[in-house]
Amino acid sequence: MNGFLGTRASIMLDVVFLAMFAVVPILFWSISLVRRGRNYQLHKQVQVTLSLVLLIAVTAFEVDMRFFTDWRARAAASPYYGSGVVIKSLVVHLCFAVTTAVVWTWVVVRALRNIPSPPGPCAHSAWHKRWGWIAALDMLGTSITGWVFYYLAFIAK
Ligand code: HEM
Repeated sequence: MNGFLGTRASIMLDVVFLAMFAVVPILFWSISLVRRGRNYQLHKQVQVTLSLVLLIAVTAFEVDMRFFTDWRARAAASPYYGSGVVIKSLVVHLCFAVTTAVVWTWVVVRALRNIPSPPGPCAHSAWHKRWGWIAALDMLGTSITGWVFYYLAFIAK
């Protein structure tokens, strides 16, 4: 089914493309809650909610891409398709996406196991800060490379 952004993309691609414009600011706002306001509880709630929403979205997206949307047919009209630039941009995007899924899951699981409830500074803080930043920057990279792929495959004329 065609999307609603008026590009060559499907509905699901449009939803994910737009959703990342919300996920990235929410993620950095959640980190700023810790850094500025020391609101650890809200940071936890936002991160766990974001993780569950992303899990559902990524599952729906994968099912759609594998069984329903022929993204290659939709991208074929792109001037960057024949030269392989679209595929290369997808490979770069997938490198970010796959590592983000792994690191993100690891950060959440370890945080829920090792940070006390209610949350606050503890023995797990140093590990969590380092890997929390890696997870956040990886997610930013996933979004930026995803937007670039979307442009090259479904917008470029
Ligand atoms: C993927 C999910 C998460 C990411 C990306 C993330 C990211 C971060 C980052 C980057 C910081 C450091 C902020 C700074 O520079 O000071 C931080 C701090 C913190 N996070 Fe998370 N977080 C996540 C999930 C959670 C969860 C589930 C909890 C609670 C169980 C939690 C509790 C905390 C606490 C207590 C701190 C403060 C540590 C301290 O300053 O001692 N986070 N988080």
